[in-house]
Amino acid sequence: MAANSRAVAAGVIAGVLAGRSLDALLASAQEQIAERERPLLAQLCYGTLRLAPRLEALAGKLLDRPLRRKDQDVHALLLLGLYQLDATRIPDHAAVAETVAATATLGKPWARGLLNAVLRRYRREQAALEATLPPAAAAAHPAWFFRALAAEWPQALERIVSANNSQPPLTLRVNRQRSNRAAVLAALAGAGIEARTGTLSADAITLSRPCPVEALPGFAAGLLSVQDEAAQLAAQLLAPRDGERVLDACAAPGGKACHLLEIAPGCALTALDVDRHRLRRVEENLNRLGLAARCLTGDAADPALLAGEEPFQRILVDAPCSGSGVVRRHPDIKVLRRDDDADRLATRQRAILESCWARLAPGGRLLYVTCSIFGAENDAVVEALLKAGSDAGECTLAIAGAERTAHGYQLLPDADGTDGLYYALLEKAS
Ligand SMILES: C[S@@+](CC[C@H](N)C(=O)[O-])C[C@H]1O[C@@H](n2cnc3c(N)ncnc32)[C@H](O)[C@@H]1O
Repeated sequence: MAANSRAVAAGVIAGVLAGRSLDALLASAQEQIAERERPLLAQLCYGTLRLAPRLEALAGKLLDRPLRRKDQDVHALLLLGLYQLDATRIPDHAAVAETVAATATLGKPWARGLLNAVLRRYRREQAALEATLPPAAAAAHPAWFFRALAAEWPQALERIVSANNSQPPLTLRVNRQRSNRAAVLAALAGAGIEARTGTLSADAITLSRPCPVEALPGFAAGLLSVQDEAAQLAAQLLAPRDGERVLDACAAPGGKACHLLEIAPGCALTALDVDRHRLRRVEENLNRLGLAARCLTGDAADPALLAGEEPFQRILVDAPCSGSGVVRRHPDIKVLRRDDDADRLATRQRAILESCWARLAPGGRLLYVTCSIFGAENDAVVEALLKAGSDAGECTLAIAGAERTAHGYQLLPDADGTDGLYYALLEKAS
């Protein structure tokens, strides 16, 4: 059974190495295995991908020659074996035996001896092998990513690396229309779940240990949502009010859209997203939480979209980005992203911001947010708007622990704290 989890995990990891997204692959892989094996499968996939650049470098040193293209599942199994030996409490003998046994499940019994020999050699020579790794591989980051972090955040490099390599906390948002933090904390304590209130968001509760959301009292009844505290700040900073027209221009899956409505249930919210499949997730979340919004499929960068309507008093632009501030939650970013992605994405971000700015009412406020820590996707995008028009004013924000940047505020990812998000709040001249 445990060998089965490893074979399934190897399939997921090989899929990510071939360019596919972890979330989608893991969701369908979970359906192939028994419920009790699912936490192990998730741990193996997330853990291996979090350390993938380091494990790849080690595999390169341990193998005489790379495995063939059609044997990438065996390559993934090797990374999985190295991860278990390097970073888990799974006893060595079990890690090696179960990983080697998974070769049979993959229909590749010839790889048994190879994996056995390579994993045992790693254990014997671990310290010497690791001493030869270049700094980026030792820090489990792709070379381009490590260079970019060192260039943009030299003082915080160690802290960001450590956050990116750690398992994030599970943070909840209390639906203030249906409950409050004290009541939810009491219900969690009653269910034996240890938790504490957040410090940045008025609605946040962080669990001491992650657990399946279905096990949380009040989740199905719409009292709670899962959302990092940095993400919870967005709706609070935009501060919508009842009666206002509010646009969430990149809304799916709806975390921030629902929070906007929990804060101001009487606002008229339009939840826009270019991806109609992802927009369905917004509808599901609205239903679960007992909230209502107009859900619209469309391109926020299209200047004609919504142009015939009344302008909006509040606009949230939670732009599609590299995700460089949320690597700990999406470790496949280390495998899938390329060094020119931030510049490429910035073109789209500028177009979305510019179009949305045109939809903002005089005196209205627009919050530009990304989950990136790269300046090209943040200050540079806001600067382009500020230079293009004279009717945008920058608002001052108070965000504990955030770095002040040229036009906004940057929370850096922190192993014991929040994800890394950027915020810039702009007001249109009346
Ligand atoms: C960072 S996610 C938004 C997360 C969401 N705000 C939340 O809190 O749950 C970015 C979203 O932007 C959408 N998107 C990308 N390009 C877009 C465009 N041109 N117009 C509208 N939505 C877009 C993506 O489909 C994705 O759902």
